[in-house]
Amino acid sequence: MELHLTDDRATPAEQVAVDSILGPPRARQAAATGKELRGENTAMAPGNRRHLLLPVLHALQARAGWLSRGGLNYVAARLDVPPAEVYGVASFYDLLRLEPSPPVSALVCDDVACKTQGADALCAQLKRSLGEEGTSCVGGKASWHRSPCLGLCDQGPVAFLRAAGESPREAMVAQATAETLTASLQGFVEGGEVAAESRPKLHEFLPQFGEPQLRLLRRVGRIHPTNLHEYQQTGGYEALRRALGMGREAVVREVVESRLLGRGGAAFPTGKKWEAVLSQWTPDAEHYVVCNADESEPGTFKDRIFLKGDPFAVLEGLTIAGFAVGAKKGYFYIRGEYPESFRLMTQAVATAREHHFVGERILGTDISFDVEIRRGAGAYICGEETALFNSIEGYRGEPRNKPPFPTQSGLFRKPTIVNNVETLVNIPEILLQGGAAYARIGTPQSTGHRLFCLSGHVKRPGTYEFPFGITLRELIELAGGVGGTGRLQAVLLGGAAGSFVSPKELDTPLTFEGVRAMGASLGSGVVMLFDDSVDLREILARITKFFHHESCGQCVPCRVGTMRQEEILKRLSANKSDGSADSEIALLKEVAQAMRDASICGLGQTAPNALLSAIDRWRLFS
Ligand SMILES: Cc1cc2nc3c(=O)[nH]c(=O)nc-3n(C[C@H](O)[C@H](O)[C@H](O)COP(=O)(O)O)c2cc1C
Ligand code: SF4
Ligand code: FES
Repeated sequence: MELHLTDDRATPAEQVAVDSILGPPRARQAAATGKELRGENTAMAPGNRRHLLLPVLHALQARAGWLSRGGLNYVAARLDVPPAEVYGVASFYDLLRLEPSPPVSALVCDDVACKTQGADALCAQLKRSLGEEGTSCVGGKASWHRSPCLGLCDQGPVAFLRAAGESPREAMVAQATAETLTASLQGFVEGGEVAAESRPKLHEFLPQFGEPQLRLLRRVGRIHPTNLHEYQQTGGYEALRRALGMGREAVVREVVESRLLGRGGAAFPTGKKWEAVLSQWTPDAEHYVVCNADESEPGTFKDRIFLKGDPFAVLEGLTIAGFAVGAKKGYFYIRGEYPESFRLMTQAVATAREHHFVGERILGTDISFDVEIRRGAGAYICGEETALFNSIEGYRGEPRNKPPFPTQSGLFRKPTIVNNVETLVNIPEILLQGGAAYARIGTPQSTGHRLFCLSGHVKRPGTYEFPFGITLRELIELAGGVGGTGRLQAVLLGGAAGSFVSPKELDTPLTFEGVRAMGASLGSGVVMLFDDSVDLREILARITKFFHHESCGQCVPCRVGTMRQEEILKRLSANKSDGSADSEIALLKEVAQAMRDASICGLGQTAPNALLSAIDRWRLFS
């Protein structure tokens, strides 16, 4: 049986793009199995290459600038996946386009941190000079679109440029103005690069650069990121050597003793996860480790610093994790809007493989562990660990029900560890100083150092590292104080899924327990400041729009709840409530409770947090 979206055929260029990932076609493709045609998960079947679906779609998009029906049909035939499923996956991701699009595009961030830096005015200027969002400009060769957070919030406003073609190019434009962005876009259309002054900076946005107390950030900006020799000269790979000598159980024991809590947002004890997977180990066990580098929480940009500034440290952490739980394979899942991180990490992995730090027989032992790098394609939900598995396996990035938890049934339905980039960078530190010594840093419940992403109205935005315990007030003072008008109105802690806190709460220690005590969360380390010129209702509107857009739509409480939230907020802001503002707020709280109680995953469960925290603290609507 043959299934086709239409009879459209791929162009020779599209075929070359697909074949660049899948290799040349065999004489005859095997027919799709009944299971695949029914849309069941066959990711584990021997010889199944469905996990290459997203890389193939990326290659097609990079060649043509969009995904034609002919191109999708060709992918379906080559992978033996029903065309409707290929379409289902392609339509899931924002970075993949299903309509003819000009070869060059600019995604312009209009999310909350960039708003404080003039993103709305920038978009208004672009509309005047280039035309409506989504229409073609620069002689029909480019288009621009608004985008959620692009992970460069300390250097806003920000844009992400992509040029499709035989030699596709991607670049970020930092601290954009209408003039610099238009010049970059025109330059890109003509085959040029973004001007040096518009490229993102690294150590300029590490305000503690060079300070001796840094542990996690100590190498960033000081060594060449892909120079293995410099990495080793600064202590790199000592921890892996030590780990291989200690044995799996001892490594996991150190991580348990360190009491390290994950830095990806959920603050789960890392050692517990590792123990759970190690306990299932047998010589033939198929285990996986995954580094979650999706970093799409608005206001978060700390993982990018490691991926760009110290990629070997992340790789070393993942390799130790792989060894400790008996995995032979690891994956990096890097957000699609981090082209430079992807490039540097790819280079670091190749160099490490060449020198036997990953791959077959690591450092001459009988341990083998290799890694693959995957790129996301513009879907915040793919940072959720089970959505991430589906994305790697070539399915829509929709979260799975838990249990079973990833440690029991994760990637390819095998026991899997997922850890955040920052969590993994802590692993070599723990092994070098010992878990017990590490646990003495910070507070008893929040051990070690933590990165904070400062953005918005702060004088020195950027990434900061401190042992747990510093208060919000101290952190803001060390970052130069409040920017903008100089009068602080609110701080968004933990990201869009976090909470707003008021200037009265600045003496809160930024520890997991300290922040929990005031009903907030540290999330991914976001600390975004808003001065008193900001209309918080506009910020809330952007956050609710974000969740409505990013909900994967799989479960009703979140799919409908995120929409209702946005509608209620619009009515409140426009003073168009049928009843009183109080009754609208009561409805909002009822919807929020249903979302928290009944959503499948953390997106729906946390989507009301920021909105309700603001409504509880300020009288924003009357
Ligand atoms: C909607 C959503 C998005 C998430 N995005 C990320 C992310 O970008 N990076 C990350 O490390 N964790 C993210 N998480 C948390 C992961 O599911 C998971 O808890 C984390 O990667 C585990 O690593 P850790 O224990 O080292 O923190 C997200 C969770 C949810 C619900
Ligand atoms: S809570 Fe939202 S994002 Fe999560 S599975 Fe349900 S619809 Fe998808
Ligand atoms: S890059 Fe614009 S808000 Fe993050």
